[in-house]
Amino acid sequence: MQEQAVAWRHAGDEIGVVPTMGALHAGHDSLVARARRENQRVIVTVFVNPAQFGPNEDFARYPRPFDQDRARLEALGVDAIFHPAVDQIYPPAFKTRVDPGPLAEVLEGKSRPGHFAGVLTVVLKLFNLTQPKRAYFGQKDFQQVVLVRQLVRDFGLPVRIVAVPTVRHTDGLAISSRNAYLDPGQRQLAPAVHHAITEAAHGFAGGETDPVRLEALTRERLAATPGLVLDYVAVVDDTTLSRPAHAIPGNVLAVAVKLGSIRLIDNVVLGAERL
Ligand code: PAJ
Repeated sequence: MQEQAVAWRHAGDEIGVVPTMGALHAGHDSLVARARRENQRVIVTVFVNPAQFGPNEDFARYPRPFDQDRARLEALGVDAIFHPAVDQIYPPAFKTRVDPGPLAEVLEGKSRPGHFAGVLTVVLKLFNLTQPKRAYFGQKDFQQVVLVRQLVRDFGLPVRIVAVPTVRHTDGLAISSRNAYLDPGQRQLAPAVHHAITEAAHGFAGGETDPVRLEALTRERLAATPGLVLDYVAVVDDTTLSRPAHAIPGNVLAVAVKLGSIRLIDNVVLGAERL
């Protein structure tokens, strides 16, 4: 992969990379389409990264429909699919790990210890193997974008990180491969997450800038949905992940809930034109 990428770079082609774990859906398609528009070469990586799953998470049962993914990516016109085996990325002698620091301890990181160390370690390796000029990540995993940007800044990586808006079902639920785990009843309740944060974002647009009140508004709205258990709701600065004294445009309202054993995350950028 690296030899091919270096050859493309030497020929003057700019490379866009889209890191994924496969089980591709319309959200991934949108990242690939954006990469296709902005680069001469597009590489999609398909790798279910064991390092970012906790011991009680779904690594073993994470879906791996590779033949379908390949057909999908061929139809989208990518130049390469990088689909390594686990021991190619992590051979027995592999020892080094990226330490993401304190921003990996909050929000998602609080419920998923070690998750972002695993993400940044594999992302750094994938960047080195694919030599991208630009790398595409979904805004849905907002904290992941923040930490990948931190990685790029801290290590001086020559990669531009492009955050792509969240793609949703028509009822508002953010598309995710984990939605397949929801039973029909849970699936019906799930759009409540999007509705709650959208309502809070409208509150912000209407002049409410107290982050605590915006969070309370979201919490109240979610409490009206039976069976939905809140993990966190937070208005945060999009670089420091700390709560601002007063919310300003560009701050992010992020939420995580559980429906049964299924964890759902979503977020909205305050002051964004499209909600
Ligand atoms: P995965 O969950 O497969 O997601 C791959 C990329 O697709 C991520 O950047 C994610 O934010 C984006 N994505 C997922 N659902 C989306 C949606 N509804 N709209 C827009 N983008 C969406 O995130 C990972 O894999 C891994 O952590 C990875 C970065 C590949 C490292 O292993």
